[in-house]
Amino acid sequence: MDYQSLIEEVYDEVKHQNLKGKVADYIPELAKVDGSKFGIALVDLDGQVYGVGDYREPFSIQSISKVHTLTMVFHAFKSKLWSRVNVEPSGNPFNSIAQLEYEKGIPRNPFINAGALVITDALVSKYKDPIKQTIEYVDELAGTHCVRIDEEVKKSELAHSERNTALAYFLKAYKNFENPVEEVMEAYVSQCAIEMSCEELAKTFSFLANNGYSVFAKKQILTETHAKRVNALMLTCGFYDESGEFAFRVGMPGKSGVGGGIGAIMPGKFSIGVWSPELNEKGNSEKSIKALELLTDKLQFSLF
Ligand code: DON
Repeated sequence: MDYQSLIEEVYDEVKHQNLKGKVADYIPELAKVDGSKFGIALVDLDGQVYGVGDYREPFSIQSISKVHTLTMVFHAFKSKLWSRVNVEPSGNPFNSIAQLEYEKGIPRNPFINAGALVITDALVSKYKDPIKQTIEYVDELAGTHCVRIDEEVKKSELAHSERNTALAYFLKAYKNFENPVEEVMEAYVSQCAIEMSCEELAKTFSFLANNGYSVFAKKQILTETHAKRVNALMLTCGFYDESGEFAFRVGMPGKSGVGGGIGAIMPGKFSIGVWSPELNEKGNSEKSIKALELLTDKLQFSLF
């Protein structure tokens, strides 16, 4: 398969469609990003990189980091984690407070904000220096020192974190939160403010396409079974209340972020990072989804 020609074809087609969305502005610093940016990087299981457009430009990965922290914690806790967070699609917006109340403090899945806060709380319990260790872990997955926390984005989110703070206190009220809210919130906004390029993102997702083994870290990151479970969660919950639509149109396990990025994998074949900051009304990148849809339409193989 000529991946380079494939992603160039997809890139050109998406550019010509002139899709429009809206750059996230509820974190004010994110609203400053140039909405016309667009890049795709595909990494095969030999570690070969194929890229087009702005694929080497760092962007704010936001909720995509929930996959990285989940895999860090999964490794440490194994299946014990699943008494604190469920594994069902939410069908609700990523920052829903109502759902957490209905479900008595057990978040639907680890990718909605409430679930990610439980995961970050577990991370803070387990790791001595969670922010530093998260950076080291993601660097290791990429096989290079590439992770940077954008301090402006971090400050901007901290100054506007009322909803996430409310979710954290709700979790605490239901005894599903062990650490001080401020401490977990700082670790959470730090992971969300990680900046990396499509190429680096695709490298960090590579082990999920490869039964848990990272060709960049040169080691087994998760067992084959755990990697399979993370992929199942990405397929069913990676796009919030648009997860069904993404599975229907694209058919790959993936995770989006409000920075406009998507990390996705084709098991046994490749991982991919796509970035375009303009979002649809569900908070997922308009062009990135279209690009992945065209890509899977053109591939001569599929997950299903
Ligand atoms: O917690 C938040 O609201 C953001 N830091 C991340 C949200 C996000 O990326 C949702 N993804 N589509």
